[in-house]
Amino acid sequence: MQYIGIDLGTSSVKLLLMQQDGIILSDLSKEYPVSYPKPGWSEQNPEDWLRQTLAGLAELLSSEHADKSRIRGIGIGGQMHGLVALDQNDQVIRPAILWNDGRTEQETAFLNTEIGTKQLSEYTGNIAFAGFTAPKILWMKKHEKEKFETINRIMLPKDYLVYMLTGAFTTDVSDASGMLLLDVKTRRWSKEMLAICGIQEQMLPAVHESYDISGYVKTEILESLGLAGNIAVVAGAGDNAAAAIGTGTVENGSCNISIGTSGTVFIASDTFRIGENNAIHAFGHANGKYHLMGCMLSAASCLKWWQEDILNTEDYQEEQKNIKGLGDNPVYFLPYLMGERSPHNDPNVRGAFLGLGMDTTRAQMLEAVLEGVAFALKDSLEIAKSLGIEIKKTKLCGGGARSLIWQEILANILDLNVELLETEEGPALGGAILAAVACGEYATVEAAAKAIVKVKKTIVPSKEMVERYQKKYQMFCKLYPAIKGIL
Ligand code: XUL
Repeated sequence: MQYIGIDLGTSSVKLLLMQQDGIILSDLSKEYPVSYPKPGWSEQNPEDWLRQTLAGLAELLSSEHADKSRIRGIGIGGQMHGLVALDQNDQVIRPAILWNDGRTEQETAFLNTEIGTKQLSEYTGNIAFAGFTAPKILWMKKHEKEKFETINRIMLPKDYLVYMLTGAFTTDVSDASGMLLLDVKTRRWSKEMLAICGIQEQMLPAVHESYDISGYVKTEILESLGLAGNIAVVAGAGDNAAAAIGTGTVENGSCNISIGTSGTVFIASDTFRIGENNAIHAFGHANGKYHLMGCMLSAASCLKWWQEDILNTEDYQEEQKNIKGLGDNPVYFLPYLMGERSPHNDPNVRGAFLGLGMDTTRAQMLEAVLEGVAFALKDSLEIAKSLGIEIKKTKLCGGGARSLIWQEILANILDLNVELLETEEGPALGGAILAAVACGEYATVEAAAKAIVKVKKTIVPSKEMVERYQKKYQMFCKLYPAIKGIL
């Protein structure tokens, strides 16, 4: 049988076709724009996601390896936290407000101070961060009152796709965790949070586990794709939980790092647990369990900005070849181009280069960008470790995982064995695996991940390099407090 995995990302939607044994038969991606209507704002048109997903499905199904009579299921992993609001006629009311949008500073402060972090943590297991969905609902209620009053349904980005493909109004625990509306521990909507946001439960999707079938592809879509029969669409997962499935990060305490537009440190946990001061998120996992996660807002996007917008080159490999020897770069880069989430929770902070001299080279500045992202990830890793979680190795996925030099920098800065996988398409593969589990190919998500995910190579840190970077990290830790409120 064949399964389709979809990763609804920020820069593009990626689709893959997987055979039931995990072999990837074909893959492709389709881009769409992000708009930044004001500094720190970030929006996308949900109709673009749908149009490009349908175009991607048509192309995937026309690939030579696709056997339309053997397609059984679809699973979607999607960018988290985005606010998609539909009216009574299922029309999108306003562009989706994305996970890296920082407009809700006041609403976030209201939730964390007026309601209080202790109370929020009791209701949801988390505190408010600017990118989460609940503060965005409050923002809309205050700034777009008329539009707010026409809301009939509120959903997350991938839930919009599931709804459009099947007519089923569902979400899954991992993605719903990032709305600050779910009591993560019990995996149910928090009545208190709904009251605080002024919304009713019927406006929200039914909560499922990621591997539950939400519905079946609508007849008219089946026909337009030349498909027949029942094609199941699973509830799916937030992209980080989907990536964790696609990288086999399912065992208690196992870690996955994703370097995409965002950068995340994801730690699977069999039980519900909360990070110190809620600085990292306590969310549900797509295997029915839980995870802790730190998220930095600009990871591979810092590299893209530096290379494409500033240096004006798309030849990443060629540019990175100029970096000679690691561990003695005097330049620092703070990767806060869109503000920062974990652990600083500061939508207003901005990035910086420090330590520049007349002798600073272009290669050192590039190296500083790669190091700065790794240091910011280390901030989240350190919080996880402070909870007594022993982390010795991590899987690595996302576009940034393809850079050989970044792999080495990460292994040494994080002091972890970094495992690279045969298939690096984390969220899309995770989506396909969830669909295969739902259709009965595997008994559990764990069994599927074990059978399908294969480690290709391990990067081992060097003691000397780890020590050098440890010194630089101590300096890095002093920089955010120094620029807070200034930049
Ligand atoms: C996670 C987060 C990002 C997005 C990226 O909390 O906001 O990783 O999911 O798509």
